[in-house]
Amino acid sequence: MSRLVYVLNGPNLNLLGKRQPHIYGHTTLADVEAECRALAGELKLELRFHQSNREYEIIDWVHEARETAGGIVINPAAFTHTSVAVLDALNAFDGPVFEVHISNVHKREAFRHHSYVSLRADGVIAGFGTQGYALALRRLATLIDEK
Ligand code: DQA
Repeated sequence: MSRLVYVLNGPNLNLLGKRQPHIYGHTTLADVEAECRALAGELKLELRFHQSNREYEIIDWVHEARETAGGIVINPAAFTHTSVAVLDALNAFDGPVFEVHISNVHKREAFRHHSYVSLRADGVIAGFGTQGYALALRRLATLIDEK
């Protein structure tokens, strides 16, 4: 199994650390990327880390991952609750997929309780802050090591 993993981030996560810090904390996406890169080094994973506010870019990265990657960690942000297209793209990917939410979406508005992506995800982490990314990467490494 390929040791290349994609960490994908959906809309508004470029503002992480600045927007609604009472919900999402003060850590920036650059901090999250740095933490993921350090951990990936430790776990001997190769990392592609991306963020976009455009649905098609997320879909294109999933398609790219299809050809090359051993797994995907995705925080689809608001696309979680709206995007059949992101779900369809993930359904075309064969490896493990982990869905991460910084906040506990189940404790929030009712529209955040439904996730299209969860219909595909092999695991979901919500409410662990930005630490959720590291937890998902560790699980992915375990699965890749077991193969
Ligand atoms: C989020 C939760 C989503 O409901 C929201 O739209 C986001 C971020 C999270 O990480 O907690 O943008 O995915």
